[in-house]
Amino acid sequence: MTDLPLLSVRSITRRYGRHVGCEDVSFDLYPGEILAVVGESGSGKTTLLNCISCRMQPTAGTVSYRMRDGETRDLAALTEAERRFLMRTDWGFVHQNPADGLRMRVSAGANIGERMMAVGERHYGRIRASAEDWLSRVEIPGARIDDRPTAFSGGMRQRLQIARNLVTGPRLVFMDEPTGGLDVSVQARLLDLLRSLVAEMGLSAVVVTHDLAVARLLSHRMMVMRRGRVVEHGLTDRVLDDPQDAYTQLLVASILEV
Ligand SMILES: Nc1ncnc2c1ncn2[C@@H]1O[C@H](COP(=O)(O)OP(=O)(O)O)[C@@H](O)[C@H]1O
Ligand SMILES: [Mg+2]
Repeated sequence: MTDLPLLSVRSITRRYGRHVGCEDVSFDLYPGEILAVVGESGSGKTTLLNCISCRMQPTAGTVSYRMRDGETRDLAALTEAERRFLMRTDWGFVHQNPADGLRMRVSAGANIGERMMAVGERHYGRIRASAEDWLSRVEIPGARIDDRPTAFSGGMRQRLQIARNLVTGPRLVFMDEPTGGLDVSVQARLLDLLRSLVAEMGLSAVVVTHDLAVARLLSHRMMVMRRGRVVEHGLTDRVLDDPQDAYTQLLVASILEV
């Protein structure tokens, strides 16, 4: 029943004028699978992520998604309303900078509650209870529920962004450098938390990162990009322990030296 891919990406290319953002990228993502997209800055990771999550129109190529009803749809053929609904319910998007994914002027509880209301929840008590539950799941003290994210540390903001995304029980989460802006000590804990939430909920995810340690810890498979193209793709342990492509070998070696 779950043998079919959740997301199928075929020959996605995005150009910025004559400049290449990403070129001819194809892959399938299966239910429950975490795919890491790695590569140095400027290699096209964010461009690819935006193209496959309906945030940017690709210049060429197709992305299809298996909806909850089992039907696979070409994302470019969805109506704007269908696309919005998908982004609010079935998908999550975790930005590197939490301020891009949160409403900074409303309370932590409202940030979580808003997503629930977007999928039709109207009962104040249930919204409040879920918000409290999710704050505790991302290790934010319940007493902070009425505080605004502006009063939170970077790590707390990122955990709140994650709670806001996961409260609706999405099937697929896109993440762009989820630990990128944080102190190293905070990164490790966030990564641990992400890993257990993703496993608990059986989520599928595409995680963009320039950090191979993040790929190692979170992902089943990884794709290495360079200058917009995929240079290597395989099981994460295999790619990291036995890289085939010369550029991947360099990337892995340079990390080991640190
Ligand atoms: N809005 C844009 N206009 C022009 N070029 C862009 C734009 N966004 C990204 N690029 C270029 O596309 C390439 C890939 O960028 P990006 O997807 O941001 O890479 P990464 O996320 O791996 O750092 C880079 O060469 C970058 O300069
Ligand atoms: Mg980027």
